[in-house]
Amino acid sequence: MKLICVENYEEMSSKAAQLVEQQIQRNDHSVLGLATGSTPLGLYEKLIQGVNERNISYKHIRTVNLDEYRGLSGDHPNSYRYFMNEKLFQHIDIMFENTYVPNGKAVPVEAECQRYEELIDKIGPPDLQILGMGMNGHIGFNEPGTPETSVTHCVQLEASTRNSNARFFSDRDEVPTHAITMGIQSILKSEQIVVLASGKNKAQAVKRFLEGRISTDFPASFLWEHNHVTLIVDKDAYSLVT
Ligand code: F6R
Repeated sequence: MKLICVENYEEMSSKAAQLVEQQIQRNDHSVLGLATGSTPLGLYEKLIQGVNERNISYKHIRTVNLDEYRGLSGDHPNSYRYFMNEKLFQHIDIMFENTYVPNGKAVPVEAECQRYEELIDKIGPPDLQILGMGMNGHIGFNEPGTPETSVTHCVQLEASTRNSNARFFSDRDEVPTHAITMGIQSILKSEQIVVLASGKNKAQAVKRFLEGRISTDFPASFLWEHNHVTLIVDKDAYSLVT
């Protein structure tokens, strides 16, 4: 595992954008694995700048997102599909049909999970996967206890995850109770994984992650089994590491 410690959120976002753009320069038909949440927002702003200022093109790039809330359609403002359209896809020259997010409304959900896992295998796996980290160590929506062998599946969200994500909803009760997420095995299929962590609220998770003890209690720890992981942390997220 490669550790890159930077000053602040801005630098973390720039460093991550640099890795993504290097991947695109190596292969302009790359598959990128993308995440939502607060952490990658700065990265997505930098990628948009890259298109406008550095002639980076996403014309042949395909993307697969980690997860989607169960029950929300892509035009719901809190869906991850909507988030990705608003924060990134609308602002770059990617072809919309080359962007993939699980369908939160699909029935039966098991068929959608299987379809999505097959899609990852067909077009991917990602050359580079971006990950944020939950305070409880979740990656995607793989909560503690998720087996390493898991592929795309439907999960019940932990109360702590729903509380943390309630900031995006007008009412805590509106936060969906379930989500579709790539599994741990799906994530580990990626060629390269870039994990981002910023801020004091991630310090405990970063400390635990860097202990390197693999356990289902802390899903991010399975990343230690992958041979090409880069963790980019800012000072605050690194502050509990001694
Ligand atoms: C989002 C995702 C989640 C987040 C994690 C951290 O697609 O898969 O695992 O990366 O919950 O969220 P933020 O970045 O909001 O702290």
